[in-house]
Amino acid sequence: MAPAALADRQNAEDQEPLEFTASNLIYFSSVSENTKRFVEKLEMDAARIPVYATEPQLISTAPYVLLIPTYGGERGKRSIMPQIMKFLRHEVNRANLRGVIGAGNTNFGEYYCIAAKRIAEKCNVPVLYTFEIMGTSEDVLNVKEGLETFWTPASQNRQQR
Ligand SMILES: Cc1cc2nc3c(=O)[nH]c(=O)nc-3n(C[C@H](O)[C@H](O)[C@H](O)COP(=O)(O)O)c2cc1C
Repeated sequence: MAPAALADRQNAEDQEPLEFTASNLIYFSSVSENTKRFVEKLEMDAARIPVYATEPQLISTAPYVLLIPTYGGERGKRSIMPQIMKFLRHEVNRANLRGVIGAGNTNFGEYYCIAAKRIAEKCNVPVLYTFEIMGTSEDVLNVKEGLETFWTPASQNRQQR
Protein backbone atom coordinates (compact mmCIF):
# COMPACT_ATOMS: atom_id res chain seq x y z
CA MET A 1 0.00 0.00 0.00
CA ALA A 2 1.30 3.50 -0.90
CA PRO A 3 2.44 5.63 2.09
CA ALA A 4 -0.35 8.22 1.54
CA ALA A 5 -3.03 5.50 1.43
CA LEU A 6 -1.53 3.92 4.56
CA ALA A 7 -1.67 7.26 6.38
CA ASP A 8 -5.30 7.78 5.26
CA ARG A 9 -6.24 4.33 6.57
CA GLN A 10 -4.47 5.01 9.86
CA ASN A 11 -6.29 8.37 10.25
CA ALA A 12 -9.65 6.74 9.49
CA GLU A 13 -8.97 3.93 12.00
CA ASP A 14 -7.92 6.45 14.66
CA GLN A 15 -11.39 8.06 14.43
CA GLU A 16 -13.31 4.80 14.90
CA PRO A 17 -15.14 4.03 18.18
CA LEU A 18 -13.40 1.58 20.53
CA GLU A 19 -14.61 -1.21 22.76
CA PHE A 20 -12.32 -2.40 25.57
CA THR A 21 -12.08 -5.99 26.77
CA ALA A 22 -10.21 -7.67 29.63
CA SER A 23 -11.14 -11.12 28.31
CA ASN A 24 -8.35 -13.72 28.28
CA LEU A 25 -9.73 -15.23 25.09
CA ILE A 26 -10.24 -13.17 21.94
CA TYR A 27 -11.43 -14.78 18.73
CA PHE A 28 -12.39 -14.06 15.18
CA SER A 29 -15.15 -15.87 13.33
CA SER A 30 -16.50 -14.96 9.90
CA VAL A 31 -20.18 -15.08 8.96
CA SER A 32 -20.03 -18.90 8.70
CA GLU A 33 -19.38 -18.84 12.50
CA ASN A 34 -17.67 -22.24 12.88
CA THR A 35 -15.17 -20.73 15.31
CA LYS A 36 -17.93 -18.95 17.22
CA ARG A 37 -19.70 -22.30 17.72
CA PHE A 38 -16.44 -23.80 19.02
CA VAL A 39 -15.90 -20.91 21.44
CA GLU A 40 -19.46 -21.19 22.76
CA LYS A 41 -18.80 -24.84 23.63
CA LEU A 42 -15.84 -23.74 25.80
CA GLU A 43 -18.27 -21.88 28.09
CA MET A 44 -15.61 -19.29 28.87
CA ASP A 45 -15.65 -15.53 28.77
CA ALA A 46 -14.52 -14.53 25.27
CA ALA A 47 -14.54 -11.41 23.09
CA ARG A 48 -15.08 -11.46 19.33
CA ILE A 49 -13.08 -9.32 16.89
CA PRO A 50 -15.67 -7.36 14.90
CA VAL A 51 -16.64 -8.77 11.51
CA TYR A 52 -17.94 -5.46 10.11
CA ALA A 53 -16.10 -2.14 9.86
CA THR A 54 -19.16 -0.38 11.33
CA GLU A 55 -18.64 -2.13 14.69
CA PRO A 56 -16.34 -0.59 17.36
CA GLN A 57 -12.72 -1.74 17.25
CA LEU A 58 -11.78 -4.18 19.99
CA ILE A 59 -8.96 -3.14 22.34
CA SER A 60 -7.44 -5.63 24.78
CA THR A 61 -6.65 -4.44 28.31
CA ALA A 62 -5.29 -7.76 29.67
CA PRO A 63 -3.16 -10.71 28.51
CA TYR A 64 -5.10 -12.96 26.16
CA VAL A 65 -4.96 -15.93 23.80
CA LEU A 66 -6.07 -15.32 20.21
CA LEU A 67 -8.22 -18.01 18.54
CA ILE A 68 -8.61 -17.58 14.78
CA PRO A 69 -9.48 -19.43 11.57
CA THR A 70 -7.41 -19.29 8.36
CA TYR A 71 -8.84 -18.07 5.07
CA GLY A 72 -6.05 -18.67 2.60
CA GLY A 73 -5.68 -17.20 -0.82
CA GLU A 74 -3.57 -18.82 -3.51
CA ARG A 75 -0.57 -20.65 -2.01
CA GLY A 76 -1.35 -19.36 1.50
CA LYS A 77 -1.31 -15.70 0.48
CA ARG A 78 -3.44 -13.22 2.45
CA SER A 79 -4.37 -16.00 4.85
CA ILE A 80 -4.95 -13.65 7.80
CA MET A 81 -8.38 -12.03 7.63
CA PRO A 82 -8.24 -8.20 7.31
CA GLN A 83 -10.29 -7.82 10.49
CA ILE A 84 -7.58 -9.72 12.40
CA MET A 85 -4.82 -7.63 10.78
CA LYS A 86 -6.68 -4.47 11.79
CA PHE A 87 -7.04 -5.73 15.37
CA LEU A 88 -3.31 -6.51 15.54
CA ARG A 89 -2.31 -3.10 14.18
CA HIS A 90 -3.14 -1.78 17.66
CA GLU A 91 0.11 -1.97 19.57
CA VAL A 92 -1.61 -2.83 22.86
CA ASN A 93 -3.36 -5.79 21.20
CA ARG A 94 0.04 -7.14 20.12
CA ALA A 95 1.56 -6.42 23.54
CA ASN A 96 -1.13 -8.40 25.41
CA LEU A 97 -1.00 -11.42 23.07
CA ARG A 98 0.35 -14.54 24.83
CA GLY A 99 -0.48 -17.39 22.47
CA VAL A 100 -2.50 -18.41 19.41
CA ILE A 101 -5.00 -21.21 18.75
CA GLY A 102 -5.70 -22.03 15.11
CA ALA A 103 -8.91 -23.23 13.47
CA GLY A 104 -8.69 -24.60 9.95
CA ASN A 105 -9.14 -27.53 7.63
CA THR A 106 -6.46 -30.16 6.94
CA ASN A 107 -7.64 -30.26 3.28
CA PHE A 108 -5.45 -27.16 2.89
CA GLY A 109 -2.34 -29.29 3.50
CA GLU A 110 0.76 -27.25 4.29
CA TYR A 111 -1.47 -24.18 4.76
CA TYR A 112 -3.45 -25.79 7.57
CA CYS A 113 -3.99 -23.09 10.21
CA ILE A 114 -1.30 -21.01 8.52
CA ALA A 115 -2.78 -17.71 9.77
CA ALA A 116 -2.37 -18.76 13.42
CA LYS A 117 1.16 -20.04 12.73
CA ARG A 118 2.20 -16.82 10.98
CA ILE A 119 0.82 -14.57 13.70
CA ALA A 120 2.50 -16.66 16.40
CA GLU A 121 5.84 -16.46 14.59
CA LYS A 122 5.58 -12.73 13.92
CA CYS A 123 4.52 -11.90 17.49
CA ASN A 124 6.94 -14.41 19.06
CA VAL A 125 4.29 -16.35 21.00
CA PRO A 126 3.46 -20.09 20.87
CA VAL A 127 0.81 -21.87 18.80
CA LEU A 128 -1.04 -23.54 21.65
CA TYR A 129 -3.42 -25.77 19.69
CA THR A 130 -4.97 -26.34 16.29
CA PHE A 131 -8.31 -27.94 15.39
CA GLU A 132 -10.51 -28.48 12.36
CA ILE A 133 -13.67 -26.52 11.50
CA MET A 134 -15.74 -26.34 14.70
CA GLY A 135 -13.70 -28.91 16.63
CA THR A 136 -14.58 -32.25 18.21
CA SER A 137 -15.69 -32.68 21.82
CA GLU A 138 -12.10 -33.79 22.51
CA ASP A 139 -10.80 -30.50 21.05
CA VAL A 140 -13.20 -28.57 23.27
CA LEU A 141 -11.95 -30.42 26.35
CA ASN A 142 -8.27 -30.04 25.36
CA VAL A 143 -8.60 -26.30 24.78
CA LYS A 144 -10.66 -25.75 27.93
CA GLU A 145 -8.18 -27.63 30.13
CA GLY A 146 -5.18 -26.28 28.21
CA LEU A 147 -6.25 -22.68 28.73
CA GLU A 148 -6.93 -23.25 32.42
CA THR A 149 -3.39 -24.63 32.81
CA PHE A 150 -1.90 -21.93 30.59
CA TRP A 151 -3.23 -19.16 32.83
CA THR A 152 -2.00 -20.65 36.11
CA PRO A 153 0.71 -18.50 37.72
CA ALA A 154 3.22 -21.39 37.51
CA SER A 155 2.75 -21.72 33.76
CA GLN A 156 2.96 -17.96 33.21
CA ASN A 157 6.20 -17.79 35.22
CA ARG A 158 7.74 -20.56 33.10
CA GLN A 159 6.96 -18.60 29.94
CA GLN A 160 8.53 -15.40 31.23
CA ARG A 161 11.85 -17.16 31.85
C1 LIG B 1 -12.30 -19.75 1.11
C2 LIG B 1 -11.75 -20.54 2.27
C3 LIG B 1 -10.38 -20.64 2.42
C4 LIG B 1 -9.84 -21.38 3.49
N1 LIG B 1 -8.49 -21.49 3.62
C5 LIG B 1 -7.96 -22.24 4.61
C6 LIG B 1 -6.55 -22.43 4.72
O1 LIG B 1 -5.75 -21.91 3.94
N2 LIG B 1 -6.09 -23.18 5.74
C7 LIG B 1 -6.93 -23.77 6.66
O2 LIG B 1 -6.43 -24.44 7.55
N3 LIG B 1 -8.27 -23.63 6.58
C8 LIG B 1 -8.81 -22.87 5.58
N4 LIG B 1 -10.17 -22.73 5.48
C9 LIG B 1 -11.05 -23.37 6.48
C10 LIG B 1 -11.56 -22.40 7.55
O3 LIG B 1 -10.49 -21.94 8.35
C11 LIG B 1 -12.56 -23.13 8.42
O4 LIG B 1 -13.69 -23.43 7.64
C12 LIG B 1 -12.98 -22.35 9.66
O5 LIG B 1 -13.77 -23.20 10.47
C13 LIG B 1 -13.78 -21.09 9.34
O6 LIG B 1 -14.11 -20.45 10.55
P1 LIG B 1 -15.32 -19.42 10.70
O7 LIG B 1 -16.58 -20.09 10.16
O8 LIG B 1 -15.42 -19.14 12.16
O9 LIG B 1 -14.97 -18.19 9.94
C14 LIG B 1 -10.72 -22.00 4.43
C15 LIG B 1 -12.11 -21.88 4.28
C16 LIG B 1 -12.63 -21.16 3.21
C17 LIG B 1 -14.14 -21.07 3.06
